[in-house]
Amino acid sequence: MPATEEKKAGRSTKLAVESVSRSFRSIVNRRRAEFVPVLNDISFTMYEGEIVSVVGLSGCGKTTLLRIVGGLLEPDEGTVRVDGDAVSGPGLDRAIVFQQPSLLPWRNALRNVEFGLELKKAGKSVRTEKARDALGLVGLRDYEKYYPKQLSGGMQQRVGLARALAVEPEILLMDEPFSALDAQTREELQMELLDLHAQTKKTIMFVTHDLDEAIYLSDRVLVLLPHPGRVHAVVDVDLPRPRANILDIKSDPAFIKARDTVARGIRAGGE
Ligand SMILES: Nc1ncnc2c1ncn2[C@@H]1O[C@H](COP(=O)(O)OP(=O)(O)OP(=O)(O)O)[C@@H](O)[C@H]1O
Ligand SMILES: [Mg+2]
Repeated sequence: MPATEEKKAGRSTKLAVESVSRSFRSIVNRRRAEFVPVLNDISFTMYEGEIVSVVGLSGCGKTTLLRIVGGLLEPDEGTVRVDGDAVSGPGLDRAIVFQQPSLLPWRNALRNVEFGLELKKAGKSVRTEKARDALGLVGLRDYEKYYPKQLSGGMQQRVGLARALAVEPEILLMDEPFSALDAQTREELQMELLDLHAQTKKTIMFVTHDLDEAIYLSDRVLVLLPHPGRVHAVVDVDLPRPRANILDIKSDPAFIKARDTVARGIRAGGE
């Protein structure tokens, strides 16, 4: 049995996206509006503890799909299930990390991380303890008193990640979380995310434009085609974990093979 098949065997399905479709109203002119299909019949599953990246050309519906999974947007058709149960809105089982961490400027790092826990109605001392643990997970234990403007972009994104982790979600939904960062900080955060995943075994859906990032992080890569967004392929990444530094792993034949398959898949949409 190939390694990826072996890995999947015996794992339970955490997230199932079943025949999800969604259109948006688009204004043609003053008298006419039409519905433009953005996602068409999207189905895929994620196993517990798996990292799956979602790639595809700009506008193919990656963010729309992530928002539907997060319960921020309803599909026109289809169902999203977590542990077999249909979701009908946002829930503490799923936390979203966006490209910009949108921290509250008047709260320090600790209080920003506590923010998510306030929705969970945890008591103050529990909130502080969990927020400190989450800041520790992202390497910011010593920065809890810093305000967002005193933190670098990478640190702010770490606080955003800690805020998502603090509510102890089962699934992390990440939409280009590192794309606003410089290359070096981005690589650091990729490695930190893998460490964090090794510690917490969260199920992670990761939207990115960067194919190296997608392969490096993921067990599988979901390739979408545009107009309307649809699944072209799900590509297995046959690289063992823990993974080495991205610079070393890039020359691994399994990395090159997966990257090539994904890159060709994305281009298939333009042909
Ligand atoms: N709320 C909305 N109302 C109308 N159209 C929308 C809305 N949200 C998204 N769209 C349209 O749906 C399509 C897909 O958008 P989406 O943001 O999901 O793409 P994406 O793959 O995330 O793109 P990018 O890679 O640029 O982030 C786009 O054509 C966009 O204009
Ligand atoms: Mg997007």
